[in-house]
Amino acid sequence: MMLFKPVILAFSSLIDKELPKGEKINNRYVIEEFLGMGSYGYSYLVYDSFLGRKVVLKMVRFHKRITKKGIRVHQYEIEILKSLQHPSFPAIFDEGMWGTVPFFTMEYVHGKTFEQLIFIEGQRFTEEEALAYGLKLLERMEYLHNKGIVHRDLRIPNIMLEDNDVRVIDFGLAKWLSDTDNKKRELKSEISPQSDYFQLGHFLLFLLYSNYETNGMEKERPWDEELSLSLKTNKLIKRLLQIDKPFETINELKQCYLEACIKREE
Ligand SMILES: Nc1ncnc2c1ncn2[C@@H]1O[C@H](COP(=O)(O)OP(=O)(O)O)[C@@H](O)[C@H]1O
Ligand SMILES: [Mg+2]
Repeated sequence: MMLFKPVILAFSSLIDKELPKGEKINNRYVIEEFLGMGSYGYSYLVYDSFLGRKVVLKMVRFHKRITKKGIRVHQYEIEILKSLQHPSFPAIFDEGMWGTVPFFTMEYVHGKTFEQLIFIEGQRFTEEEALAYGLKLLERMEYLHNKGIVHRDLRIPNIMLEDNDVRVIDFGLAKWLSDTDNKKRELKSEISPQSDYFQLGHFLLFLLYSNYETNGMEKERPWDEELSLSLKTNKLIKRLLQIDKPFETINELKQCYLEACIKREE
């Protein structure tokens, strides 16, 4: 078993060749661009000749296809996306098999991820802007939690900005809050609302750090010293990250969040 996994992984990367532009899948989807490779799948921008529009096609990687767990993760993502009817999440269009490869297609979000905005476009966010985008993310999160879903991967490559709307993608790690969980997990991957709260704290820090200037000579200091944030924002982030008293409910979190926003306006 010890040897098995590395061998399978090596084999998997040989088999999982990135599909070339122009390749047609099931006589319907034409590959236009490779978008990314995550832990369980590949995402492509494709032209759906049936719908006559661009969509995103996500397929399971080889080494995940041969394990029950890999297939279950894929099924979960489909099931959760199907349960969402909200313009901030991608609509799911089709699911099927390409030979032995399970895939699904979803709406293409015409925007950039916050990772692209910060690290490629060099966009900077003020504290006020960071709080405003974070508030939108909080609203999306509240919708998910009300549906009994915890996303568990609210990182900047999975949060997109499209026409000033914050859209959440990648439900590959999402779970139902009712799922039983016997594993001992870190806070960021717990099956609890607090794991998403924690990621919201990190989202805010990424946006806030976009504005941080350093000459590279200074010694690194903790974020609450490097960023000169208002007291209320500081408090909010510390509670999200559970450095200070964790939020027990979303209402408690919302109240503290709005106070941080109001404080900025004074
Ligand atoms: N619906 C979508 N619309 C636009 N871009 C997408 C969409 N889904 C995924 N992407 C892009 O592809 C990347 C990888 O897809 P993602 O679903 O996050 O899978 P993973 O992180 O498991 O590879 C994203 O970071 C994003 O840049
Ligand atoms: Mg992702």
